[in-house]
Amino acid sequence: MSRKDNLYKIAYECRMHAYAPYSGFKVGAAILSENNKIFCGCNVENVSYPCGICAEAGAISALIAGGEHKIKEILIVADTDCILPCGNCLQKIAEFADEETLIHSANLQGIVKTSTFVQLFPCHFKKGDIKNA
Ligand code: THU
Repeated sequence: MSRKDNLYKIAYECRMHAYAPYSGFKVGAAILSENNKIFCGCNVENVSYPCGICAEAGAISALIAGGEHKIKEILIVADTDCILPCGNCLQKIAEFADEETLIHSANLQGIVKTSTFVQLFPCHFKKGDIKNA
């Protein structure tokens, strides 16, 4: 199985565990790390709506918990034409990505679009913006 097919399969299967009783919109995400490991996440909603977390955020937590810090590729899958990370998740991804990090958008049939991080978020808040950090 190709690297991309494997990312897709893992994100797809993770999506099935999404907890989305309020929106009914299940999302899965899978990250390929620097050491070629795969970490996944799904959205987890809450009756207090703003407490919910996106699939991308869950996958990033798994990446960090697994001892890694670099996103080489991330794939997001949902039952829609072409899912892209929300603005909040793009900033979260920015922390662990570089300009060429690949962001694959997939639906239930397969990958529909691949973008680089810089295409989706050309200007973002960076560590260097905090003068004393
Ligand atoms: N959601 C994600 O998990 N990732 C995205 O990229 C977009 C939206 C979730 C949040 C919420 O649980 C549901 O989809 C509807 O917005």
